[in-house]
Parts: sequence; C-alpha cells; structure tokens
Amino acid sequence: MPDLDLPQRQATDALMLSGFWYRALPADRVHRNQLYKATLLEIPLVIGRDRMGQPFALRDACPHRGMPLNCGGFDGENLECGYHGWQFDIHNGQCQLIPSLTADQNLRVDRIYAGSYPCEEQDSFIWVFIPDPAPPGAGFAPPTEPPDPAPQIEKFTGKYKLAYLQAEMPVSIDHGIIGLMDPAHGPFVHQAWWWRSQHSIHEKKKHFEPIPNGFRMSAHTPSSNSAPYKVLRLYADADSITTTIDFILPNIRTETIRAGKYWFSSLTTVTPITRNHCRIDVVAAWNLFRWVPFVPGLLKFVFAKFVEQDRRTMELQAEGLKHNPHLMLIDDADRPAKWYFQLKAAHLQAKRTGEPMKHPMPGPVTLKWRS
Ligand code: FES
Ligand SMILES: [Fe+2]
Repeated sequence: MPDLDLPQRQATDALMLSGFWYRALPADRVHRNQLYKATLLEIPLVIGRDRMGQPFALRDACPHRGMPLNCGGFDGENLECGYHGWQFDIHNGQCQLIPSLTADQNLRVDRIYAGSYPCEEQDSFIWVFIPDPAPPGAGFAPPTEPPDPAPQIEKFTGKYKLAYLQAEMPVSIDHGIIGLMDPAHGPFVHQAWWWRSQHSIHEKKKHFEPIPNGFRMSAHTPSSNSAPYKVLRLYADADSITTTIDFILPNIRTETIRAGKYWFSSLTTVTPITRNHCRIDVVAAWNLFRWVPFVPGLLKFVFAKFVEQDRRTMELQAEGLKHNPHLMLIDDADRPAKWYFQLKAAHLQAKRTGEPMKHPMPGPVTLKWRS
C-alpha cells in the first residue's frame, strides 16, 4: 500500500555522480596561455587554453609531490610544475621532462601522467568530463575517453543570441536540484509585480512522462498568470506557444519555448563543487525579440532576478540545514524531487549491477498542485 497521506522523509545523502560532463568555467573568462583554478565534485582542477585557444583540464596536483599545478609555468603548450620543474602535456597530462634526471638515468618519463580530464567548449562554457572512477591524482593513467560529447543547448535556427548567468549556492547538489525543479516556491520566492503575486495562486495540472535518464513536463501552454507570457502571446501568435521542460541526470534542466518561428531555449545545470556547495549556471539561447532593442538586456535582467531570488533563498535555507533537520517530500508538489532521488538511486543501482537502468516512472503521470 502506498502511504497516501504521510509525507516521505527526504534522503539525506548528497552523493555527487561521476561519469558525466560538468560545466567548469564560463568560456569568456578563460584566456589563452593562462591558468585558472576550478573545483568539480571536490576535485581541484587547473584549467586553461593552449596557444590555439583549445581548452584543457588537469587535476591541480603534480603527480610527483602534489604541488598545485596552477602555480607553475605555462607557455601555451606544456605546463611546468613550480616545485621541481617536471613538465606535462596539457591535453593528455603526459610527462614530457624531468629536469633532475641525468643522461644515464632511464626512467620512463612518458609513462607518468598528471590526471587529465576530457574538456570541451560548448555554448559559452568550458565543460569537463569527470570519469568514473576518478583518475588517481598521481599516476600512470592516460585520460579516459568520454562516452558522449558535452551537452548542447537545442537551437532551432542558425541565428540566435546567447547569454549566461551564474550563482553560487551554499547547499548540496541535491538541494540545488530539487530547488530548481520545485513548482511550489514560485509565488513565495519569485514575487514581483511584473511576474506574479501570491494572489494569483491557482490550481495547476501538468503532464509528465519518463525520458531516458530523466523526465519531461510535456509540451504545454505556459502559465496564464504571468505578464511576460502575455506579452509573448501578443508578439508571436496567441495559441501557438508551447513549453517543454526536461530534467536529465545528473543535473540538467532544459526548457524550450516555441511560438511560431520564434524560440527560446535554455540549459541550466546545478554543479556540485563540494559536498555542501553547488553552482547554478543558466545558459539561454533565443531568436525571439532579436531585433527589438533592450529586450535581450531585459530578459537577462528577469533571469538574473530569478536566480538571485533562488540564491538568496538557498543561502537562508543553508542556515536551517546546518543542524541536520528531518526533511520531507509531499505529493504532488515534491513528486519531481522524489523522481530525482529515485533516478539517482536507479542510476547507481544500474552501475553496481551492470544491468540496464530501471526507470522509476512507469509511464506518463499527471501532477496537480497550486502555485
Ligand atoms: S612536485 Fe611537481 S615536480 Fe615535484
Ligand atoms: Fe526558483
């Protein structure tokens, strides 16, 4: 018998999933021939671009004695550790030179590797693939090949605008993600006269369906109680507006709005930095209002406001979480959060057993809540 009325306890572990691509740094902040620090899943990284502009990511610890490589020298091709001058190829981590070796000492320098991670630039971000299991910091292992390329924003025409926003949150990846997919906080956290107020709360019914590694809120006509959608409806053609929202493990939320020949598409990620710290990166692409002055700025303003409201809320939430309270998940508003935890568990189970992942959703589901 399912527990019909009792809320479910929320799992407390905040395991970070390896074997996926993660956004590391905004691409426009990474310049050629320079070194930058980043942390993903508690792994310290040094990130940069070679002379041609190709990005790379290495574990920020020398395999000799653990010196952070970001403090070393970099000529756009090899990275030289600041402690004993060992040199590494930035793209595969292979050791090129150990200055202390004499001519008759034949240590196989080329068998030594600094940990190296697959790295790609995609839609304004440098993405890094964190393999499973993680390569040892010091060692003899060449880099792993990722199974797929880094995720991309879906685009529907050749010409579009692209913008990004980011915010750091002092909470675990799980709280970051369930906050992102939470439908019930809108009227309380995102109040603004031009968006919606608490008084506009009404019952909503949304259809969800399972997709590989995640779930989809099926194409629907967006919320009628928000001003921007009313404007959009006037601008494009009324009844043709549809929104599709997907969540895909480990941390991706995509939203696509299509209104006739116009579209808006976003790919938001919540990236685990450490166990208790995550970062939200929203990247949006659109061809809507491309010719209307101020609109891109306005869109960015609206998004920045939302993200800031979420960030502020999670900062406050982190205070409450310090003392490890019991938490709960209720139906139907927290059902997407339940699916997230179930998907994560199913993914880990599949990895343990080697069997195909069992999707927690049996089929399409309709959820109801007030927001
Ligand atoms: S610690 Fe890097 S060369 Fe020795
Ligand atoms: Fe929010």
